[in-house]
Amino acid sequence: MQYTWDDIERHIAVCSQCSLCRTRCRPVMGRGNRQADIMLIAEAPGAQEDRQGIPFVGNSGKILDRLLQDCGMERKEIYITNILKCHPPDNRDPKEEEKEACFPYLKYETFLLKPRIIVCLGRVAAQRIISPDFKITSQHGTWTYRKNFALTATYHPSALLRDSSKYNLAKEDFVEIIKKRVELNERKSLDF
Ligand code: URA
Repeated sequence: MQYTWDDIERHIAVCSQCSLCRTRCRPVMGRGNRQADIMLIAEAPGAQEDRQGIPFVGNSGKILDRLLQDCGMERKEIYITNILKCHPPDNRDPKEEEKEACFPYLKYETFLLKPRIIVCLGRVAAQRIISPDFKITSQHGTWTYRKNFALTATYHPSALLRDSSKYNLAKEDFVEIIKKRVELNERKSLDF
C-alpha cells in the first residue's frame, strides 16, 4: 500500500505502538520542506516539542537554526524528523522496543521525501541509521553511501549547547554537507 504524508500524519497522531503514548503530550511528526534534498534525523522530541507537537522548537532548535544560518542555510530548505516521534520521560535514551515500534514512520517519511542526503544528529540517530557502533566524536563528518542517498552524522544540537567547541566542528560538517549537495546535484544533472 502506498502511504501519503496525510496518512502518516494521521497514524502518528493516534499511535499506540509503544508505551510512550501513555506519557506523551503530543506526538511530533517530522516537519519542513517535503521537496527537500536534505533530511535531518535527530533522537526524540524534548519537553517543549512534546507540548507543541513540533520538532526543534526549544533551545536545541534555536542553536540548530543558528548553525544552519551560519552555513548559509535555512530550516525551510530542509526536512527534520526524529527516530522517536514521542518524548521519552526525563529525556532518557530511547529504548530498543520504542525505536523499533517507531521505525516504520521514519521509513515512510524517507520513502516519500526521497532525500539525497541524510544527516544524523547525534549518537542515537547515527547508531540506528548508519551503524550500531558509530562514534560521533571520531566519525562525525564521514560519509556512507546507500543505494539512494549519502549518509553522514554530526553532533546533536543539545551537545553544542553544552560544549561550544563542538559548535565549530558541527559547522565544518554542515559546510561539507552543502558541498556534497552541490556535488550530488551536479552529478544528477549529468544522468541522462
Ligand atoms: N531534540 C531532538 O532530538 N529532537 C527534537 O525534536 C528536539 C530536541
